[in-house]
Amino acid sequence: MKIEDTIKKAIILGATGGIGRQLAKELARSLEHLVLVGRDADKLSQVQKELTGSKAQLSILTLDMLDQVALEAFVENLDADLLVNCAGLAYFSLGCVLDSASEQDLWQLNYHSPVQLIKQVVQKNQNIKLVQLSSLAALFPHPYLAAYSASKAALQTYTLALQEELRQSDSQVQLGLYILGPVQTAIFPPKLVEALGGGSLQMKPEKVAQQLIRFIERDTSYAIIGLRYRLLVWLGRLLPQRWIIRLLAIYLKKGLNR
Ligand SMILES: NC(=O)c1ccc[n+]([C@@H]2O[C@H](COP(=O)([O-])OP(=O)(O)OC[C@H]3O[C@@H](n4cnc5c(N)ncnc54)[C@H](OP(=O)(O)O)[C@@H]3O)[C@@H](O)[C@H]2O)c1
Repeated sequence: MKIEDTIKKAIILGATGGIGRQLAKELARSLEHLVLVGRDADKLSQVQKELTGSKAQLSILTLDMLDQVALEAFVENLDADLLVNCAGLAYFSLGCVLDSASEQDLWQLNYHSPVQLIKQVVQKNQNIKLVQLSSLAALFPHPYLAAYSASKAALQTYTLALQEELRQSDSQVQLGLYILGPVQTAIFPPKLVEALGGGSLQMKPEKVAQQLIRFIERDTSYAIIGLRYRLLVWLGRLLPQRWIIRLLAIYLKKGLNR
């Protein structure tokens, strides 16, 4: 079934980011209504302009997801068949030198805000698909991305546990969580990507957006995007976790010297 057969209206949080913007492009081709949400009004207008002429009727909405009151009001008025959360924050550094304010923002955006959103929607028992984006860093602890890794692991654990609760209670809410490997976006600065050997390991956001849509169409509740990353995860599960963390540390440490 095509996405437009079941979804008329979708909302993208983080629509100004690398993956959000590309997903917006893809969805705008087929859906009737698309709401682009982000914290920066100018960037949102720019994305809207880029999508002018697409099939979808476009709306934009400014929302800082660190603002819990604004987020609560946003969810209260939520009206859509699909919401994809593409907002996220990562800091690459020694874990113990990340300042508390940055660490708090990271946890708020990557864990507390999505959980607040999910809880509020579940309490309303709204008929909607909620999709969260996660990372390989949720599956394998990533040195130098310790807070990011932990926040994504926490969101994955929460989502998978809640999925089962919702299944057992015949809830109308459908939760999806999709794991991504590295993607060519601005979440990591170009100098860091260069220090890590360039973008050859990164997926293109276009490809990611298309695959996300395919999993949404199939109502998949949990998936790893990209064959090479599915194989990597499979291999990774055969090795002792300590080895994988060491290998990741050797690879990622190059990024500290950028
Ligand atoms: N890129 C990767 O390699 C990768 C890998 C695995 C998982 N992911 C996950 O995929 C998702 C999208 O990442 P991306 O690569 O597209 O990153 P990105 O290009 O940096 O986009 C992040 C988005 O989050 C938004 N955002 C940041 N702080 C916000 C706030 N306080 N309130 C509302 N929005 C806020 C940004 O808004 P502004 O445009 O205003 O900054 C931007 O739209 C994230 O959850 C990320 O963890 C990415």
